[in-house]
Amino acid sequence: MIFQDPSITEIRKMKPATLLDVCFAWMDKEPRWQSNAGRLWDDVKERFCTAPASGSPKFHLCRPGGLAIHSLGVVQNLERFASAMAEDLASFKTESVLLCGLFHDLGKIGLPAKSHYTPGSNGWYSAANEGLSVPAMSLYWLGKYHVELEPAEYQAIMHHDGQYVPEGKWCQFAESRLALLLHYADYWSTMDEKGWPNG
Ligand SMILES: [Fe+2]
Repeated sequence: MIFQDPSITEIRKMKPATLLDVCFAWMDKEPRWQSNAGRLWDDVKERFCTAPASGSPKFHLCRPGGLAIHSLGVVQNLERFASAMAEDLASFKTESVLLCGLFHDLGKIGLPAKSHYTPGSNGWYSAANEGLSVPAMSLYWLGKYHVELEPAEYQAIMHHDGQYVPEGKWCQFAESRLALLLHYADYWSTMDEKGWPNG
């Protein structure tokens, strides 16, 4: 579906920066975003590629570049999960899957004036309190660059933590397939990166 050319096997051998270029070449084809997704990417790329995925060495990818690796892993899991599930899931739009996979955690870069994570001692990062959740900041960036979202895309990003957080109640039993797929792909990637409790 998404990675027919290059194949998923080739994708797994690629460096993150090359893979991100492949993803954004796809997104550039989407007429509703015109060049807005590309403008956003140009402006956040450096921060996105140097931010960690979490602030704690006990959690996942707490190191520079962790966010990019995590986000690409989620795109790959979205592809795997969609391919393995019901045939009608193949109707997912490629650009929706890429957008949700790559940008669900974009808020982890913080806001324009300040990074969310600040390096601390012993490999930890402290996380700023911007008064907005990470998903809300992800959506802030997309709105700032006029990357128009469909309701299912908005829901998928806003509620990608699913029922792990109180806000998830807003979409309980009302999730789109895209939202559920992103949630499971994200958590599967996170556990792969963090380490599963039973190996
Ligand atoms: Fe994530």
